[in-house]
Amino acid sequence: MMFDHTHGLSGHRILTGDRPTGPLHIGHLAGTLAGRVQLQVRNRQTILIADLQALTDNAGNPAKVSSNVLELALDYLAAGIDPAQTTIALQSGIPELAELSTLYMNLVPVSRLLRNPTIKSEIEARGFGDSLPAGFLCYPVSQAADITAFCADLVPAGADQAPLVELSNEIAMRINRMAGEEVLPRAELLQSHAPRLPGIDGRRKMSKSAGNAIMLSDEPDDIRRKVFAMYTDHGHLRVSDPGKVEGNVVFAMLDAFDLEPEAVADLKERYRAGGLGDMVLKRRAEAVLQDLLAPIRARRKMLASEAGEIRKILEAGTAAARETVQPQHSRVRRAFGLA
Ligand code: TRP
Repeated sequence: MMFDHTHGLSGHRILTGDRPTGPLHIGHLAGTLAGRVQLQVRNRQTILIADLQALTDNAGNPAKVSSNVLELALDYLAAGIDPAQTTIALQSGIPELAELSTLYMNLVPVSRLLRNPTIKSEIEARGFGDSLPAGFLCYPVSQAADITAFCADLVPAGADQAPLVELSNEIAMRINRMAGEEVLPRAELLQSHAPRLPGIDGRRKMSKSAGNAIMLSDEPDDIRRKVFAMYTDHGHLRVSDPGKVEGNVVFAMLDAFDLEPEAVADLKERYRAGGLGDMVLKRRAEAVLQDLLAPIRARRKMLASEAGEIRKILEAGTAAARETVQPQHSRVRRAFGLA
């Protein structure tokens, strides 16, 4: 179930972020968005729309990044992020972050970046070859600027972000030694306990580019069509056959979003034993997803008609974030001997 992975945390400075490269789907909702909606109540949370970071592998198509900034903000607000509780800020609107990145780059050997497991696998996945952009190789340094500038002590993200938080901490310690005092705190990764949601095809994680995602903005017909196309168990030919729960996308959806886990446990037992048809399961999953997404879609549509308001929220959040990062920015400049 998705609404219980924030450990009742309170009083933390939280920074999290996303690259604006596309609208969000229910995998984001289960993995991070629902947690952020809870965390915002009793913590100081900032969500960074990381457009500069997105450009590190989208410089050939900058419109993809700029056109998705507002979409991402819409998804946040529709999913329940409250701008009165969470600061939503645009990375490129905070030039202090860029300057911090420039300074931090002097502390990080290129070999260290090339060895970073997250970067290493991302470089391989993108097949950059000889054309690896320097900006992409250095984005972890820029992310360290993000984390340290906001004095974040918690960074909610996936396990893949652990090496980046580690690098950020190393940079913070170096700065503290240079300054002779604690200028920047350590940050800790807050890993979501939600298992990664599979795509409706069951073969990969959910992603828009793989075409296997249910988007937050999907219409009821899309949702119905996608649920009934979900991969279940190829061995489950007759209703009376025993079925597999593991790897079954419909059960993954019910585990993530059904509000009655006991009922889901019961369905699993009956499915395993044989005698429970896929259609029964899919009808339940459809009802669960329709209920989940109807209010989000309605809010998204309402907000989309007020683009000017959304822009104002972003501008105000970015201005507030700039103020937040000022003191750290000044201290780091001083640690480097700059006035
Ligand atoms: N790297 C993150 C992602 O790809 C986005 C991000 C940028 C971020 N800056 C951050 C996440 C700071 C947490 C903290 O999703």
